[in-house]
Amino acid sequence: MGKVRKAIIPAAGMGTRFLPATKAMPKEMLPIVDRPTIEYVVQEAIESGIEDIIIVTGKGKRAIEDHFDNNFELENNLMKKEKYDLLEKINKSANVEIHYIRQKEAKGLGHAVWCARKFIGNEPFAVLLGDDIVQAEKPCLKQLIEQYEETRSSIIGVQRVADEDTHRYGIIDPKTTQGQRYQVSNFVEKPEQGTAPSNLAIMGRYILTPEIFDFLGKQETGTGGEIQLTDAIQKLNEHQTVFAYDFDGKRYDVGEKLGFIRTTIEFALNNEEIGEDVRKILKELVLDKEVVKE
Ligand code: G1P
Repeated sequence: MGKVRKAIIPAAGMGTRFLPATKAMPKEMLPIVDRPTIEYVVQEAIESGIEDIIIVTGKGKRAIEDHFDNNFELENNLMKKEKYDLLEKINKSANVEIHYIRQKEAKGLGHAVWCARKFIGNEPFAVLLGDDIVQAEKPCLKQLIEQYEETRSSIIGVQRVADEDTHRYGIIDPKTTQGQRYQVSNFVEKPEQGTAPSNLAIMGRYILTPEIFDFLGKQETGTGGEIQLTDAIQKLNEHQTVFAYDFDGKRYDVGEKLGFIRTTIEFALNNEEIGEDVRKILKELVLDKEVVKE
Protein backbone atom coordinates (compact mmCIF):
# COMPACT_ATOMS: atom_id res chain seq x y z
CA MET A 1 0.00 0.00 0.00
CA GLY A 2 1.17 3.49 -0.85
CA LYS A 3 1.81 6.79 0.79
CA VAL A 4 -0.64 8.56 3.14
CA ARG A 5 -1.75 11.47 0.95
CA LYS A 6 -5.31 12.18 2.00
CA ALA A 7 -6.91 13.31 5.23
CA ILE A 8 -10.45 13.53 6.54
CA ILE A 9 -11.39 16.28 8.98
CA PRO A 10 -14.87 15.67 10.40
CA ALA A 11 -16.53 19.02 11.15
CA ALA A 12 -20.23 18.24 11.17
CA GLY A 13 -20.79 18.27 14.94
CA MET A 14 -23.35 20.69 16.34
CA GLY A 15 -21.08 22.29 18.93
CA THR A 16 -23.67 22.07 21.70
CA ARG A 17 -20.99 22.63 24.36
CA PHE A 18 -20.52 26.18 23.07
CA LEU A 19 -24.10 27.28 22.64
CA PRO A 20 -25.26 29.98 22.10
CA ALA A 21 -21.98 30.98 20.35
CA THR A 22 -22.39 28.09 17.90
CA LYS A 23 -26.04 28.68 17.07
CA ALA A 24 -25.18 30.40 13.78
CA MET A 25 -21.41 29.83 13.62
CA PRO A 26 -19.51 26.54 13.25
CA LYS A 27 -17.58 25.64 16.40
CA GLU A 28 -14.57 24.98 14.16
CA MET A 29 -14.46 28.73 13.46
CA LEU A 30 -14.07 29.74 17.11
CA PRO A 31 -10.68 31.46 17.27
CA ILE A 32 -7.72 30.64 19.45
CA VAL A 33 -6.16 34.14 19.54
CA ASP A 34 -6.61 35.04 15.85
CA ARG A 35 -6.93 31.74 14.01
CA PRO A 36 -9.98 29.47 13.87
CA THR A 37 -9.36 26.11 15.56
CA ILE A 38 -9.77 24.21 12.28
CA GLU A 39 -6.86 26.13 10.74
CA TYR A 40 -4.46 24.71 13.33
CA VAL A 41 -5.57 21.23 12.34
CA VAL A 42 -5.32 21.92 8.59
CA GLN A 43 -1.80 23.31 9.17
CA GLU A 44 -0.77 20.15 10.99
CA ALA A 45 -1.98 18.07 8.05
CA ILE A 46 -0.06 20.23 5.55
CA GLU A 47 3.13 20.13 7.65
CA SER A 48 2.79 16.34 7.78
CA GLY A 49 2.84 16.07 3.98
CA ILE A 50 -0.91 15.63 3.33
CA GLU A 51 -1.84 16.71 -0.22
CA ASP A 52 -5.64 16.51 -0.19
CA ILE A 53 -8.02 17.23 2.66
CA ILE A 54 -11.73 16.50 2.77
CA ILE A 55 -13.74 18.29 5.41
CA VAL A 56 -17.00 16.59 6.34
CA THR A 57 -19.38 19.45 7.02
CA GLY A 58 -23.07 19.75 7.78
CA LYS A 59 -25.84 22.26 8.13
CA GLY A 60 -24.67 25.77 9.02
CA LYS A 61 -20.99 25.16 8.26
CA ARG A 62 -20.49 27.36 5.20
CA ALA A 63 -18.17 29.75 7.01
CA ILE A 64 -15.54 26.98 6.94
CA GLU A 65 -15.62 26.90 3.13
CA ASP A 66 -15.43 30.68 2.95
CA HIS A 67 -12.48 30.68 5.32
CA PHE A 68 -10.38 28.43 3.09
CA ASP A 69 -11.48 30.18 -0.12
CA ASN A 70 -9.90 33.22 -1.77
CA ASN A 71 -11.35 36.60 -0.88
CA PHE A 72 -10.27 38.87 -3.72
CA GLU A 73 -11.78 42.03 -2.31
CA LEU A 74 -10.00 41.60 1.01
CA GLU A 75 -6.74 40.58 -0.66
CA ASN A 76 -6.81 43.58 -3.03
CA ASN A 77 -7.49 45.84 -0.13
CA LEU A 78 -4.60 44.50 1.93
CA MET A 79 -2.34 44.68 -1.13
CA LYS A 80 -3.19 48.34 -1.73
CA LYS A 81 -2.51 49.13 1.91
CA GLU A 82 0.76 47.14 1.70
CA LYS A 83 -0.26 44.94 4.61
CA TYR A 84 1.82 42.00 3.39
CA ASP A 85 2.05 40.34 6.81
CA LEU A 86 -1.75 40.03 6.96
CA LEU A 87 -1.88 38.83 3.36
CA GLU A 88 0.52 36.05 4.22
CA LYS A 89 -1.55 35.13 7.28
CA ILE A 90 -4.81 34.78 5.36
CA ASN A 91 -3.16 32.62 2.69
CA LYS A 92 -1.54 30.17 5.08
CA SER A 93 -3.48 27.16 3.88
CA ALA A 94 -3.24 27.96 0.17
CA ASN A 95 -0.96 25.06 -0.79
CA VAL A 96 -3.36 22.21 -0.15
CA GLU A 97 -6.51 21.10 -1.96
CA ILE A 98 -9.53 21.20 0.35
CA HIS A 99 -12.67 19.32 -0.63
CA TYR A 100 -16.03 19.21 1.10
CA ILE A 101 -18.81 16.75 1.61
CA ARG A 102 -21.87 17.15 3.79
CA GLN A 103 -22.99 14.64 6.35
CA LYS A 104 -26.74 14.78 5.94
CA GLU A 105 -27.66 13.28 9.31
CA ALA A 106 -25.87 13.54 12.66
CA LYS A 107 -25.14 9.83 13.10
CA GLY A 108 -21.78 10.03 14.82
CA LEU A 109 -18.07 10.23 14.08
CA GLY A 110 -17.89 6.81 12.41
CA HIS A 111 -20.63 7.85 9.99
CA ALA A 112 -18.92 11.17 9.24
CA VAL A 113 -15.71 9.34 8.27
CA TRP A 114 -17.71 6.87 6.19
CA CYS A 115 -19.24 9.80 4.23
CA ALA A 116 -15.76 10.45 2.77
CA ARG A 117 -15.16 6.85 1.56
CA LYS A 118 -15.48 7.61 -2.16
CA PHE A 119 -12.96 10.41 -1.90
CA ILE A 120 -10.46 8.13 -0.14
CA GLY A 121 -10.85 5.08 -2.41
CA ASN A 122 -8.45 2.24 -1.77
CA GLU A 123 -5.55 3.89 0.01
CA PRO A 124 -4.41 4.52 3.58
CA PHE A 125 -5.56 7.86 4.95
CA ALA A 126 -5.48 10.14 7.98
CA VAL A 127 -8.28 11.41 10.22
CA LEU A 128 -7.80 14.54 12.31
CA LEU A 129 -10.41 15.68 14.82
CA GLY A 130 -10.85 19.40 15.26
CA ASP A 131 -11.43 19.24 19.01
CA ASP A 132 -7.78 18.36 19.51
CA ILE A 133 -4.90 20.68 18.72
CA VAL A 134 -1.40 19.27 19.14
CA GLN A 135 1.77 21.33 19.43
CA ALA A 136 4.86 19.23 18.79
CA GLU A 137 8.35 19.64 17.42
CA LYS A 138 7.51 17.05 14.77
CA PRO A 139 3.79 17.35 13.86
CA CYS A 140 1.74 14.63 15.56
CA LEU A 141 0.31 13.37 12.27
CA LYS A 142 3.80 13.13 10.77
CA GLN A 143 4.88 10.94 13.69
CA LEU A 144 1.95 8.63 12.96
CA ILE A 145 2.68 8.58 9.21
CA GLU A 146 6.25 7.51 9.96
CA GLN A 147 4.88 4.70 12.12
CA TYR A 148 2.60 3.69 9.25
CA GLU A 149 5.55 3.62 6.86
CA GLU A 150 7.37 1.25 9.23
CA THR A 151 4.45 -1.07 9.95
CA ARG A 152 2.09 -0.66 6.96
CA SER A 153 -0.71 -0.92 9.53
CA SER A 154 -3.35 1.40 10.94
CA ILE A 155 -1.99 3.59 13.78
CA ILE A 156 -4.03 5.46 16.38
CA GLY A 157 -2.53 8.40 18.30
CA VAL A 158 -2.87 8.06 22.08
CA GLN A 159 -1.72 9.87 25.21
CA ARG A 160 -2.20 9.22 28.91
CA VAL A 161 -5.01 11.02 30.70
CA ALA A 162 -5.94 11.21 34.39
CA ASP A 163 -7.86 8.13 35.58
CA GLU A 164 -10.95 10.20 36.34
CA ASP A 165 -11.08 11.42 32.70
CA THR A 166 -10.98 8.05 30.90
CA HIS A 167 -14.79 7.97 30.44
CA ARG A 168 -14.55 10.94 28.07
CA TYR A 169 -12.36 9.15 25.51
CA GLY A 170 -11.78 6.09 23.40
CA ILE A 171 -9.40 3.98 25.51
CA ILE A 172 -7.02 1.21 24.49
CA ASP A 173 -6.29 -2.04 26.27
CA PRO A 174 -2.58 -2.47 25.46
CA LYS A 175 -1.24 -5.97 24.79
CA THR A 176 2.47 -5.48 24.17
CA THR A 177 4.65 -2.41 23.79
CA GLN A 178 7.66 -1.61 21.69
CA GLY A 179 8.91 1.83 22.73
CA GLN A 180 5.99 4.22 22.20
CA ARG A 181 4.09 1.76 20.01
CA TYR A 182 1.47 -0.63 21.38
CA GLN A 183 -0.24 -3.71 20.07
CA VAL A 184 -3.78 -3.50 21.29
CA SER A 185 -6.24 -6.15 22.49
CA ASN A 186 -9.23 -3.84 22.65
CA PHE A 187 -10.36 -0.36 21.69
CA VAL A 188 -13.22 0.77 23.94
CA GLU A 189 -15.29 3.91 23.33
CA LYS A 190 -15.95 5.94 26.49
CA PRO A 191 -15.81 3.18 29.12
CA GLU A 192 -17.86 3.84 32.24
CA GLN A 193 -15.96 5.41 35.09
CA GLY A 194 -13.82 2.88 36.93
CA THR A 195 -13.93 0.29 34.11
CA ALA A 196 -11.24 1.60 31.73
CA PRO A 197 -8.61 -1.01 30.79
CA SER A 198 -5.85 1.67 30.87
CA ASN A 199 -5.50 5.43 30.84
CA LEU A 200 -4.16 5.56 27.27
CA ALA A 201 -6.72 7.68 25.43
CA ILE A 202 -7.36 8.15 21.71
CA MET A 203 -6.47 11.75 20.88
CA GLY A 204 -8.11 12.57 17.57
CA ARG A 205 -5.31 11.51 15.22
CA TYR A 206 -5.61 8.35 13.15
CA ILE A 207 -3.96 6.61 10.20
CA LEU A 208 -6.34 4.00 8.84
CA THR A 209 -6.25 1.42 6.09
CA PRO A 210 -9.24 1.52 3.69
CA GLU A 211 -10.60 -1.77 5.07
CA ILE A 212 -12.05 0.34 7.91
CA PHE A 213 -14.87 1.26 5.51
CA ASP A 214 -16.03 -2.39 5.44
CA PHE A 215 -16.81 -2.09 9.15
CA LEU A 216 -18.12 1.49 9.08
CA GLY A 217 -20.41 0.44 6.23
CA LYS A 218 -22.26 -1.94 8.56
CA GLN A 219 -23.56 1.21 10.29
CA GLU A 220 -23.77 -0.47 13.70
CA THR A 221 -24.46 1.93 16.55
CA GLY A 222 -22.55 1.98 19.83
CA THR A 223 -22.10 4.38 22.77
CA GLY A 224 -24.69 7.17 22.76
CA GLY A 225 -26.63 5.49 19.93
CA GLU A 226 -24.03 6.77 17.44
CA ILE A 227 -21.92 5.03 14.81
CA GLN A 228 -18.55 5.07 16.57
CA LEU A 229 -15.20 5.13 14.79
CA THR A 230 -13.62 3.38 17.79
CA ASP A 231 -15.97 0.38 17.39
CA ALA A 232 -15.04 -0.01 13.72
CA ILE A 233 -11.34 0.23 14.67
CA GLN A 234 -11.86 -2.58 17.18
CA LYS A 235 -13.46 -4.73 14.44
CA LEU A 236 -10.63 -3.89 12.03
CA ASN A 237 -8.14 -4.91 14.74
CA GLU A 238 -9.67 -8.38 14.78
CA HIS A 239 -8.73 -8.77 11.08
CA GLN A 240 -5.50 -6.82 10.74
CA THR A 241 -3.20 -5.31 13.38
CA VAL A 242 -4.07 -1.79 14.48
CA PHE A 243 -1.31 -0.17 16.53
CA ALA A 244 -1.55 2.68 19.02
CA TYR A 245 1.26 5.20 19.26
CA ASP A 246 1.93 7.39 22.30
CA PHE A 247 2.96 10.48 20.34
CA ASP A 248 5.27 13.30 21.49
CA GLY A 249 3.74 16.72 21.94
CA LYS A 250 1.25 18.66 23.97
CA ARG A 251 -2.41 18.14 23.21
CA TYR A 252 -5.00 20.84 23.81
CA ASP A 253 -8.69 20.06 24.17
CA VAL A 254 -10.57 22.86 22.41
CA GLY A 255 -13.84 20.90 22.31
CA GLU A 256 -15.08 22.04 25.69
CA LYS A 257 -15.20 25.38 27.50
CA LEU A 258 -12.44 25.03 30.09
CA GLY A 259 -10.01 23.39 27.67
CA PHE A 260 -10.78 26.10 25.14
CA ILE A 261 -10.14 28.92 27.63
CA ARG A 262 -6.94 27.29 28.88
CA THR A 263 -5.69 26.89 25.29
CA THR A 264 -6.56 30.50 24.47
CA ILE A 265 -4.66 31.77 27.50
CA GLU A 266 -1.62 29.61 26.84
CA PHE A 267 -1.46 30.46 23.13
CA ALA A 268 -1.97 34.15 23.90
CA LEU A 269 0.86 34.09 26.46
CA ASN A 270 3.15 32.50 23.86
CA ASN A 271 2.12 34.88 21.08
CA GLU A 272 4.98 37.10 19.88
CA GLU A 273 2.77 40.09 19.25
CA ILE A 274 0.65 40.17 22.41
CA GLY A 275 2.27 37.69 24.85
CA GLU A 276 3.92 40.30 27.11
CA ASP A 277 0.75 42.36 27.42
CA VAL A 278 -1.36 39.30 28.11
CA ARG A 279 1.02 38.38 30.94
CA LYS A 280 0.50 41.83 32.45
CA ILE A 281 -3.27 41.64 32.10
CA LEU A 282 -3.39 38.22 33.75
CA LYS A 283 -1.27 39.41 36.67
CA GLU A 284 -3.49 42.45 37.13
CA LEU A 285 -6.61 40.30 37.06
CA VAL A 286 -5.29 37.76 39.54
CA LEU A 287 -4.24 40.52 41.96
CA ASP A 288 -7.52 42.40 41.56
CA LYS A 289 -9.66 41.41 44.55
CA GLU A 290 -12.75 42.69 42.73
CA VAL A 291 -12.21 40.19 39.92
CA VAL A 292 -10.68 37.20 41.70
CA LYS A 293 -12.76 36.63 44.82
CA GLU A 294 -11.48 34.27 47.55
C1 G1P B 1 -14.03 11.38 19.91
C2 G1P B 1 -13.76 9.88 19.81
C3 G1P B 1 -12.99 9.38 21.04
C4 G1P B 1 -11.73 10.21 21.21
C5 G1P B 1 -12.05 11.72 21.27
C6 G1P B 1 -10.78 12.54 21.27
O1 G1P B 1 -14.96 11.60 20.95
O2 G1P B 1 -14.99 9.18 19.67
O3 G1P B 1 -12.66 8.03 20.88
O4 G1P B 1 -11.05 9.80 22.38
O5 G1P B 1 -12.85 12.12 20.15
O6 G1P B 1 -11.02 13.90 21.37
P1 G1P B 1 -15.77 13.00 21.14
O7 G1P B 1 -14.91 13.84 22.01
O8 G1P B 1 -15.96 13.58 19.78
O9 G1P B 1 -17.05 12.61 21.81
